[in-house]
Amino acid sequence: MIVTTDQLFKIAYGRYAVGAYNINNLEQATGLFRGNIESQAPFIIQISRGARKYTDKRFLEAIIRAAEDVFPEAIFAVHLDHGTEEACYDCIDSGFYSSVMIDASHESFEDNIAITKRVVERAHARGVSVEAELGMLGGVEEDIVGSVCLTKPEEAEEFVAQSGCDSLAVAIGTSHGAYKFTAEPGKKMGLHFDVIEDIQKRLPGYPMVMHGSSSVPKDEVDRINAAGGKMKDTSGVPEEDFLPAARMGVCKVNIDTDGRLVWTRVHREFFRDQPEKFDLRDPGKVYMAEYAKMIAHKNEKLGSAGQLDDVRAKLG
Ligand code: 13P
Repeated sequence: MIVTTDQLFKIAYGRYAVGAYNINNLEQATGLFRGNIESQAPFIIQISRGARKYTDKRFLEAIIRAAEDVFPEAIFAVHLDHGTEEACYDCIDSGFYSSVMIDASHESFEDNIAITKRVVERAHARGVSVEAELGMLGGVEEDIVGSVCLTKPEEAEEFVAQSGCDSLAVAIGTSHGAYKFTAEPGKKMGLHFDVIEDIQKRLPGYPMVMHGSSSVPKDEVDRINAAGGKMKDTSGVPEEDFLPAARMGVCKVNIDTDGRLVWTRVHREFFRDQPEKFDLRDPGKVYMAEYAKMIAHKNEKLGSAGQLDDVRAKLG
């Protein structure tokens, strides 16, 4: 069942966060649905502009529609990740997406409000929820290369009041991609819980979104490198931080990179260990199982595992 992010956040607020996972193809979609059903969790499918362009956006949409039939128990939102105004309108008008993100965080504060407000008006007329972003994350997302600029809590309050967005992506120290925290003298590493706490005080009950939430597990990076990879030493968001953040109003936690690491590890190890193989379905089967395992594990850490019956009952 496809629902809006707004419906999920009203149920989850302050208790747990809903995992938002980026997918690009059939294997990821299958692993994603399996992992969420196994762990009995509601979830958010994220589709980036890059994913829509990878083949043809209609393929990915058709895969999700088919998955809805194959997994009738699943409760999820279909969300555009980091949309431009044009991409948001395309998704809203498609009638398929239940949620869009308008990312105008690189614009001035006033322009970010004005653009977000236009998207909110069009989206709400179609029953679609809107996520906006204030502040700048570091790292690379699509074609946007960001340098960190934490969200100012007083601006968040004004931004939400003026734009009418349903949830807000806040810059709280994370960044996109595999290389997040670099140790520099005098620089704070990890999440800025003080910023989350301040925003929650100013906007009680209002859902926040945490981008760049992959943990980049050392074990995964080591296995990739042992199988021929050349990733640098790195670390991401500790999974133990998910629940404390959720209790402060972070309702959506975005995870893309960790899924890519699973793909890379599975395929590197598979072909290292079985160089005679050439059937793409063989590593594909391993990947679907491993990605499902990763999703179920993340949902445990987010607190969303085991919540499916409660969500179904509350949706009525
Ligand atoms: P990661 O790169 O940490 O997985 O973050 C993904 C994300 O925030 C997508 O919007």
